[in-house]
Amino acid sequence: MKATFSSLATAITLGASAVLASSAVKARDSSITPITVKGNAFFQGDNRFYIRGVDYQPGGSSQLEDPIADADVCKRDIAKFKDLGLNTVRVYSVDNSQDHDDCMNALADAGIYLVLDVNTPKYSLNRAQPKESYNDVYLQYIFATVEMFAKYPNTLAFFSGNEVINDGPSSAAAPYVKAVTRDIRQYLRSRNLRQVPVGYSAADIDTNRLQMAEYMNCGTDDERSDFFAFNDYSWCDPSSFTTSGWDQKVKNFTGYGLPLFLSEYGCNTNTRKFEEVSALYSTKMTGVYSGGLVYEYSQESSNYGLVEVSGDNVTTLADYDALKTAYNNTPNPSGDGGYNKTGGASGCPTKDAPNWNVDGDTLPAIPAPAKKYMTQGAGKGVGFSGDGSQDKGTASTGTATAGSGSASSTGSASSSSSKGAAAALRVPGTGVAPIVVGMVTAMFSVLGASLILS
Ligand SMILES: *[C@@H]1O[C@H](CO)[C@@H](O)[C@H](O)[C@H]1NC(C)=O
Ligand SMILES: *[C@@H]1O[C@H](CO)[C@@H](O)[C@H](O)[C@H]1NC(C)=O
Ligand SMILES: *[C@@H]1O[C@H](CO)[C@@H](O)[C@H](O)[C@H]1NC(C)=O
Repeated sequence: MKATFSSLATAITLGASAVLASSAVKARDSSITPITVKGNAFFQGDNRFYIRGVDYQPGGSSQLEDPIADADVCKRDIAKFKDLGLNTVRVYSVDNSQDHDDCMNALADAGIYLVLDVNTPKYSLNRAQPKESYNDVYLQYIFATVEMFAKYPNTLAFFSGNEVINDGPSSAAAPYVKAVTRDIRQYLRSRNLRQVPVGYSAADIDTNRLQMAEYMNCGTDDERSDFFAFNDYSWCDPSSFTTSGWDQKVKNFTGYGLPLFLSEYGCNTNTRKFEEVSALYSTKMTGVYSGGLVYEYSQESSNYGLVEVSGDNVTTLADYDALKTAYNNTPNPSGDGGYNKTGGASGCPTKDAPNWNVDGDTLPAIPAPAKKYMTQGAGKGVGFSGDGSQDKGTASTGTATAGSGSASSTGSASSSSSKGAAAALRVPGTGVAPIVVGMVTAMFSVLGASLILS
């Protein structure tokens, strides 16, 4: 049975309390705890949470597939995820016209979270034309995806963008990436959805990685991300913490106020032993990093696979055994791993063209026709068969005023129920009493975005 909001709504309309009860039970029967952000770390309740995951993209980047729209496919692979000891998978594109309840529930039952890219090849920012591709048709698609997945307790995070900036000059697109992040976060709050962490996944480029991280964490709280992730293929076995330069990255990111993790890693230049796993989950790194995702589950032409998929058959490869051994030999640090409890904003990086071709922190305003989605919802997604968005719709006109991305600016926060606002405040723990939440909501609507982050 589907446990969607619409089925609940239908049940209420019909006054069928028995149906409602079973829907509600179904929606909540997973005991998986949603992941939250505290300081520069992820938490599962009171415990530090480290991402131990793989990138899950059967078909590769060239063949568009939604592996979590097909229950047979995902259940076949969940057996392997469990055997590997994973707690997270990343999916690069989903068809938001499809149902995902079966796979998301099966993943939750296996204790596995999802990091989801909200974009698809056809519905994404175009780095060569960021202004045109940041439009209302695009936002409708990704908001529909966000609405669909925020309801699952095991949606760990949304990637607002993936490798949009892939060199110095394309950093000029960064304000649009940041605007999309702002809009998704605002959408979650305005729609009273769970405040799923939202952030960007950066390409493996040394020349502006730190600037991009700082940029996504500077400015007013409504504009800042909830975490930052980047791809890193610089540790090629045999290597070490110092040989790989990972020690320098830890040094450079020390004091960064958001959770940080690797959205892709696993250099395949030489035989992979995944020796970096023991560094990544050691206290040498856990004060700054929160784990990462190995590229990638299935064998594709780029030769990074852990398994070979052929029809219904999955055959494990040597890299699978190597990764499993590395994980087995590497427990998480005890205690809190030395995370930074304070967290907080970065300063905005100074313009340094061509590597960092962005001046200040002025963001484009949300395209006018997309504003209504904040209050009315985005409605249904057209899925993979849609016509795409990059050359459609209405673009942004003008720049945003600071704080424009706060939920109250659309006028919905004060009148709404309290779930979203409370989540936005990042109240530690999950069991917030309704009366406290009500008070928090009132404060939120008076004081606005300044309260969002500690
Ligand atoms: C660390 O930061 C320094 C100074 O900004 C920079 O020169 C260096 O390339 C960075 N190292 C890494 C590995 O990012
Ligand atoms: C913790 O993060 C804050 C905000 O980025 C920073 O100012 C502070 O120096 C950090 N503390 C440590 C010990 O890294
Ligand atoms: C799957 O494995 C079975 C048993 O080994 C074999 O008979 C079948 O041909 C395989 N199918 C594919 C598509 O490889």
